[in-house]
Amino acid sequence: MSEFKPLVFSGVQPTGNLHLGNYLGAIKKFVALQAKNDCIYCVVDLHALTAQLVHEDMPNQIRSITAAFLASGIDPKAHIVFNQSAVPQHAELAWIFNCVARIGWMERMTQFKDKAGGKNAEQVSLGLLAYPSLMAADILVYRATHVPVGDDQKQHLELTRDIAMKFNLDFASQIRETGAGIDIKVGDQPVHAYFPMVEPLIDGPAPRVMSLRDGTKKMSKSDASDLSRINLMDDAETISKKIKKAKTDPDALPSETEGLKGRPEADNLVGIFAALSDKSKADVLKDFGGQQFSVFKPALVDLAVETLAPVNGEMRRLMGDPGYIDTVLRDGGARARARAEKTMKEVRDIIGFVQ
Ligand code: TRP
Repeated sequence: MSEFKPLVFSGVQPTGNLHLGNYLGAIKKFVALQAKNDCIYCVVDLHALTAQLVHEDMPNQIRSITAAFLASGIDPKAHIVFNQSAVPQHAELAWIFNCVARIGWMERMTQFKDKAGGKNAEQVSLGLLAYPSLMAADILVYRATHVPVGDDQKQHLELTRDIAMKFNLDFASQIRETGAGIDIKVGDQPVHAYFPMVEPLIDGPAPRVMSLRDGTKKMSKSDASDLSRINLMDDAETISKKIKKAKTDPDALPSETEGLKGRPEADNLVGIFAALSDKSKADVLKDFGGQQFSVFKPALVDLAVETLAPVNGEMRRLMGDPGYIDTVLRDGGARARARAEKTMKEVRDIIGFVQ
């Protein structure tokens, strides 16, 4: 019994400004994973077309996500940073996965139902329905094994496993004939697999950063109120204003995490503090239990400004040098393409395409 070589893959869409939720929920984890893993981080520009076709500012959106990756400490030489459209093999594998996945699987995705809900079929693109199949292709075209994402993407990763499993089973004899598969265990079942069963990496103290105006809603770039989120490009004064205006309740902070139950705003701010300082919520409450928000908020402002200012400054510097960013993307794209083509050659063989 062998195992797939561990490989981390994740993607961020080039739409809207990055905010603290993207930073804590995704990018900060990407940075930490580099120490012990081979990592591929992708600006998923093809995905950006699913909800809206025309993006006036597409090149700068792609560059600004790339700048955020680099400014946060992702090393594009030791790992791979690129934009999805530079590697056509993603779209090629996505087509094959469109023929593996069933329409019913796609229609059951809660994100699709949320976005398409109420609108008739003339108003949402076919791409929006097929989107998780492209996401599966992003990951599996590298046969990646681990995917750091926010918890809203968990269902898409389950679908990725379903697609991988159906491909492995439907093409079982061809996979054997080509010698490209490996023997793995799925639960107790031995399976001869070409594609691995991906594992989501979702944990951390702030897997879900909530709105500063409503602790029951996710922090989102589409929220009408800019006070609801901290953007990665916000300056110190703006960060301070937003945290000071953040909704809270009148009670002091509890000493134990139990006491955060039923207090979504308090829970959110403590979670943000914990994630920014690499501590657990319990440790944060050890320091601040019994304190009022009038004490906790200024401490959170200092921490947020101190942590985000260097990222913010470096992002601005990089955005002033688009030529450099484009070089990084081109280099990453070439290395990603070489790896993806190796997989696609094998996939074409497994399917029986003449090449
Ligand atoms: N769907 C993800 C999101 O909206 C972005 C994404 C696309 C992704 N392809 C991916 C994430 C592959 C992880 C792996 O956040």
